[in-house]
Amino acid sequence: MSGGNRHKRRPPPRREPERPEPPVRGPVEVTVERVGAKGDGLASSHGARLYVPQSLAGDRLMVNFGQPRADGWEAEPVTLLHEAPGRAEPPCVHFGVCGGCAVQHMDDATYVAWKTDLLVQTLARAGLMEGVALRPMARTPPGGRRRATMLATKRGRRLWLGYNERASHRQIDVAMCPILAPALVALVAPLRALLADLLADGRQVDVALTLFEDGPEVLLIGLPEPKLPQLEILAAFAEANDLARLSWSAAPGKPAEPIARRRPGMVTFGSVPVVPAPGAFLQASREGEAALVEAALEGTAGAATVADLFAGSGTLTFPLAERSKVLAVEGDAEPVAALEAGARRLPAGQVRVQRRDLFRDPLTADELKGFQALVFDPPRAGAAAQAQELARSAVPAIVAVSCNPASFARDARTLVDGGYRLEWVRPVDQFLWSPHLELAALFRR
Ligand SMILES: C[S@@+](CC[C@H](N)C(=O)[O-])C[C@H]1O[C@@H](n2cnc3c(N)ncnc32)[C@H](O)[C@@H]1O
Repeated sequence: MSGGNRHKRRPPPRREPERPEPPVRGPVEVTVERVGAKGDGLASSHGARLYVPQSLAGDRLMVNFGQPRADGWEAEPVTLLHEAPGRAEPPCVHFGVCGGCAVQHMDDATYVAWKTDLLVQTLARAGLMEGVALRPMARTPPGGRRRATMLATKRGRRLWLGYNERASHRQIDVAMCPILAPALVALVAPLRALLADLLADGRQVDVALTLFEDGPEVLLIGLPEPKLPQLEILAAFAEANDLARLSWSAAPGKPAEPIARRRPGMVTFGSVPVVPAPGAFLQASREGEAALVEAALEGTAGAATVADLFAGSGTLTFPLAERSKVLAVEGDAEPVAALEAGARRLPAGQVRVQRRDLFRDPLTADELKGFQALVFDPPRAGAAAQAQELARSAVPAIVAVSCNPASFARDARTLVDGGYRLEWVRPVDQFLWSPHLELAALFRR
């Protein structure tokens, strides 16, 4: 140690955060009451809530109190005393560690019942289930996910590419991903080799993968601006792996810059080919998209004029436009550009596009006059301000699409309090084996 350092004040010793004492030491016997909203079994012992991983309602087991968690404790299973029916062999080697899937340990019937019940309980708590027809859950099969974002981390010479571990900032290096489209899984090994060469030690980037009809897109988010040699390597990668497009952006939310554009990167909505911007919103599976389109068409059948709010790049707009004149309203510039390009392919006036922030400036009840039906599909936060205006409107039929049952329940309550009747609700599962659930619902006046 140099003389100068001797006089430096030493940092105070690091104090480990205090861990609360569990109510009891040593194993306790518990019975799992039900599987909760995050996929863990819920049990109780000594007046405390226990979260039992990979368990089913009715499982009886010996567990230790583990880490404290929210309003309870993680349970560390020791012995399974009684196994409830409904268990299945998880199809993925990463299950249990990977944060992507919560419930691969259930057989299919148990899974569908659990996920449907999450929705039913949320709606029932808001007093919305009485007299409502619950339709069967729309499914996405394994391999059906057409978009996912993985994390790439370079440490030393090694590169990890995959998802975060469950309840952790650590990361797993994925060897397989049975939910994801095989064409995207096939990119994981080549991307790992590419990024191991390309990234500096300690660097992390998000790797957003999307499968379009004309091939995959890779968007690297958080990449420092690539210079000519890196651009050449990336363009060669796009060529070797037959990508439709390869882009980069400096940070989440920053504009994406194209590196290689070998094909447009397109999807067909209705009969209209649409080219979403890199990283733009796209329903996570074709099957999910089909169920949502079906719901939108059914709920708006016979309407000559339809408003499609939070329209994105036109997933619902263009199928609706095959039968009705549509006003598509969207807040972001890039999807608005995709909507406008699609609208130009149709007879003039069939689709009108408006860019508008529907949180701050919802369509008013007055502006909604003349629409015979309406569809709204907001982000996770829901559409509180728009729902207030809808509740005051006279639009006869409203189809709600939602990726968050909790914000849907709040907005649905507003509509019902305004005199609408919730006729049916359909759970739509685009995120297989996760707790995430989408839905479509029809309200009428
Ligand atoms: C769940 S996506 C649905 C998009 C489209 N309906 C689809 O199925 O592809 C929600 C959309 O709402 C848009 N959005 C988010 N906040 C908004 C706001 N305050 N006003 C208008 N649009 C907004 C997003 O840009 C996104 O396109």
